[in-house]
Amino acid sequence: MHVLVTGGAGFIGSHVVDALLSRGHTVAVLDSLVARVHPERTWPDIPPDVRRVRGDVTERDDWLVALEGADAVVHLAAYQDYQADFSRFALVNDAGTALLYELLVEFSLPVRRVVVASSQAVYGEGAYECANHGRQYPPPRSLAQLTRGAWDPACSACEAPLEPTGSSEDRPAPTNAYGISKLATESYALTLGARHGIPTSALRFSIIQGPRQSPANAYSGVLRAFVGHIRHGRRPVVYEDGRQRRDYTHIRDAVSAVELVLEHPDAVGQAFNVGGGRITTVLEYANAVLSAMGADIQPDVSGRYRLGDTRHVWSDTARIRALGWRPTGTLDEIIRDYLAWTADAPEGEDWTARALARMEAGGVIRQVAQGD
Ligand SMILES: NC(=O)c1ccc[n+]([C@@H]2O[C@H](COP(=O)([O-])OP(=O)(O)OC[C@H]3O[C@@H](n4cnc5c(N)ncnc54)[C@H](O)[C@@H]3O)[C@@H](O)[C@H]2O)c1
Repeated sequence: MHVLVTGGAGFIGSHVVDALLSRGHTVAVLDSLVARVHPERTWPDIPPDVRRVRGDVTERDDWLVALEGADAVVHLAAYQDYQADFSRFALVNDAGTALLYELLVEFSLPVRRVVVASSQAVYGEGAYECANHGRQYPPPRSLAQLTRGAWDPACSACEAPLEPTGSSEDRPAPTNAYGISKLATESYALTLGARHGIPTSALRFSIIQGPRQSPANAYSGVLRAFVGHIRHGRRPVVYEDGRQRRDYTHIRDAVSAVELVLEHPDAVGQAFNVGGGRITTVLEYANAVLSAMGADIQPDVSGRYRLGDTRHVWSDTARIRALGWRPTGTLDEIIRDYLAWTADAPEGEDWTARALARMEAGGVIRQVAQGD
């Protein structure tokens, strides 16, 4: 198969490219090399036999050049950020995806499979159980609640503490512009794919971690931030009280999910959660990174929080497991593989401090009220 990978110069995309090549496929990449991910605006180390198209998924002509000869498309390019530029999520993620299908239909292109990247962000605040009132999908925590440092959501009926549980595919409820754009991405892709006979699947990735996460990308997650702080002699910053629960996922497992749904006949027309299966708190993660780096310091848990963060969220992966997929990566492996990669590419620029300052200046990072 000849596969076009959009965002193929990025974190997940570059690993998908390698995996496709190793299976004997030929590959093209469409990537605009956005500055947030590629500060030098240059191509990373991509195997020479990959056709590179530097272009934007919002541009018709760029898609058309990139789609030449494609049998399948893995659409990973997306806008991701914590800033308040809401319209940009829709422009890049939704208009970009709609444009792909527009061109496939307009030119009757012989693409026989599409996989689009969605996100766990479609679950908003996640799913919870109340002992008295059953399943709950809480709204975003209020500013007043966060300012008091009352981190956990409570039952909307009786205000009892809620117990978090795994989110399954049937109940998306996004609470930010990124999550909304990802749900719309899926909706365009699955609906237009079904309507126009273009077999399509969507993958709702949990937080994917591993080598090649751009140290310059503030959105690329907690491991990059922890390692960045520690490398620059600071304590890793942990928001809230660090007890937030997540299902961090090894990049190898994200790639194997893409490979599976790209070819599995029963994957067509569906969205699948892709999560690591093991639940970890942010504080456990910070301590594991400190221990792996031999740093004799404590995480910095200073009552800061990020507006828009979810408290607990993890994904129920029963649907993709039924197709034979299993996550295999452990937290220790994620950390080990990332550190091995960054050892060869030391972080010269202090990107982590810059990202922190940018989020503080933008009002994304705030401090719990003093005296509470
Ligand atoms: N990494 C995660 O934890 C995670 C979690 C959930 C969902 N996802 C989704 O997976 C996909 C890949 O994420 P990633 O972590 O590899 O991100 P990344 O930022 O490392 O890579 C994205 C790539 O897309 C390119 N790109 C961005 N905008 C573009 C545009 N308009 N036109 C063309 N190229 C553009 C960037 O230059 C970059 O190389 C995204 O759709 C993301 O929303 C990722």
